Amino acid sequence: MTLDIEAIRKSYKRYAAGYDLLFGGVFHAGRTTLVQRMDLQPGDRVLEVGVGTGLSLPMYPADVEIVGIDLSPEMLERAERRCRRLGMQSRVRLELMDAEDMSFDDASFDKVAAMYVATVSPRPARLIEEMGRVCKPGGDLFILNHFSSANPVLGGIERLLAPLSRRLGWRPDFSLEEFLWETRLDLVERIPVNLFGYWMLLHARNRMDMPMSMAAPLSQTAARAE
Ligand SMILES: C[S@@+](CC[C@H](N)C(=O)[O-])C[C@H]1O[C@@H](n2cnc3c(N)ncnc32)[C@H](O)[C@@H]1O
Repeated sequence: MTLDIEAIRKSYKRYAAGYDLLFGGVFHAGRTTLVQRMDLQPGDRVLEVGVGTGLSLPMYPADVEIVGIDLSPEMLERAERRCRRLGMQSRVRLELMDAEDMSFDDASFDKVAAMYVATVSPRPARLIEEMGRVCKPGGDLFILNHFSSANPVLGGIERLLAPLSRRLGWRPDFSLEEFLWETRLDLVERIPVNLFGYWMLLHARNRMDMPMSMAAPLSQTAARAE
């Protein structure tokens, strides 16, 4: 069964209260590496899609402007509380918004990040297309995610879990090769992160010349996601 917005909202309503305890520590190293690789400069405008409970917010330098969006009101509410607790309200804006259909103008941000979101969002290629649209041409895209394991045992388990995607709220079998083919990301680097390097940080340069929509064959990706 495929993921949709309602399934995601339902899952994260369930996960929200225990999210930091369950996924705070185990995913921490990946978030830290991503923010370091962003090489943020004073005044940079950063967009984080699927910001969740805002675990990454304290990692950003004080002289950048951060916009965080998420589909789940319950996750976002926790991010808002974190922001208030850390006194970050003046430089962080949080909004309830679908990252696959954002209301921001083209080229609004210097750097755009998605941490552990691509396996969760209903149409990953559409997500990347939107990230590319709102990022400045030549800006940077950062995607941190788990992709299907090449290990035959782990890969087998992931395939077995695949039919439970809707219930789990994420896709256990998510192929890096297919993702790269569908999104046509202009990769700068890929860095294995977290436990056993089981997750991957992708850093891509946003295209200078053409909108991502022309680069990715979305008709095919939408059909595959169905
Ligand atoms: C696994 S959590 C990751 C949260 C956070 N980035 C972190 O590092 O812990 C995935 C988050 O992405 C959000 N999400 C999934 N699809 C989304 C979409 N299309 N637009 C906005 N948020 C989305 C979910 O609501 C959830 O909060």
